[in-house]
Amino acid sequence: MQIHKVGVIGAGQMGNGIAHVFALAGYDVLLNDISQDALTRALALIDRNLGRQVVREKITEAEKANAIGRISTTTTLTDLGASDLVIEAATERETVKTAIFEDLQPHLKPDTILTSNTSSISITRLASRTDRPEKFMGLHFMNPVPVMQLVELIRGIATDEPTYKTMLGVVESLGKTAASAEDFPAFIVNRILMPMINEAVYTLYEGVGNVRSIDESMKLGANHPMGPLELADFIGLDTCLAIMNVLHDGLADTKYRPCPLLTKYVEAGWLGRKTSRGFYDYRGETPVPTR
Ligand SMILES: NC(=O)c1ccc[n+]([C@@H]2O[C@H](COP(=O)([O-])OP(=O)(O)OC[C@H]3O[C@@H](n4cnc5c(N)ncnc54)[C@H](O)[C@@H]3O)[C@@H](O)[C@H]2O)c1
Repeated sequence: MQIHKVGVIGAGQMGNGIAHVFALAGYDVLLNDISQDALTRALALIDRNLGRQVVREKITEAEKANAIGRISTTTTLTDLGASDLVIEAATERETVKTAIFEDLQPHLKPDTILTSNTSSISITRLASRTDRPEKFMGLHFMNPVPVMQLVELIRGIATDEPTYKTMLGVVESLGKTAASAEDFPAFIVNRILMPMINEAVYTLYEGVGNVRSIDESMKLGANHPMGPLELADFIGLDTCLAIMNVLHDGLADTKYRPCPLLTKYVEAGWLGRKTSRGFYDYRGETPVPTR
């Protein structure tokens, strides 16, 4: 199937990056959010991030201008009715996502492909609530979208081969690489990454190391570009905890139990960079470990 018009729902952290990469690859993008402020902020951010790519000579001024010209915005969900592909990147709450698909589907063409960027909700379950489970997939981008090379493609139990093949082609057209994952809790990247972060928090909790020694160990001893605690602060500790809970509940194995210290940080509202405090305190010039 040919994809020209792409509807992106949710103009937050992920939605603006998704709109950015699709517009740069030549697709017409219609970006939707319930908040006009979020749309305004997203357009400003896309402009700034494209500008950075121009400065780094990754793209030209003309490519930037063309990409911006391909993005329109709307607060009316049903305006996305003419889309060939819909990418839902709204708030990570199942009721929000199912309501979006239910409201949108009567306005869609029968062959429009529906995708969700969810990090943790079952694709099969989301698909089963739509009128087209065979044309529904997980399309999981990594943050920040314009920078990260990988996209996870997740087939629900009913996803058909033409939909999967079309989406493989779409990912390739963005200059990105697809990894195909079966629909089980947290897919591939978070299934491996989050237990590692959780184990780093246990290592801190049990006093095996402090924040600095744990991060240094993994950077210098395992060649990771960021330490696990630094990375957790970047992702958001609430997000890390939510994904551990999805693994724990979904796989019913105690090896996925979230570390009580991770829960404590979240309860304190110390969620990492976004709240200026997590395993590091970001309120000063340089980050200072909090333990
Ligand atoms: N942040 C990450 O690192 C990351 C990585 C991969 C996937 N994801 C997934 O991407 C999705 C979005 O995450 P985010 O970090 O961009 O969240 P975010 O909070 O930055 O943005 C969510 C946006 O959705 C909008 N929204 C809420 N309800 C809506 C509705 N009914 N219709 C239209 N818009 C609506 C909000 O106004 C907000 O602008 C989630 O499913 C999340 O699991 C996030």
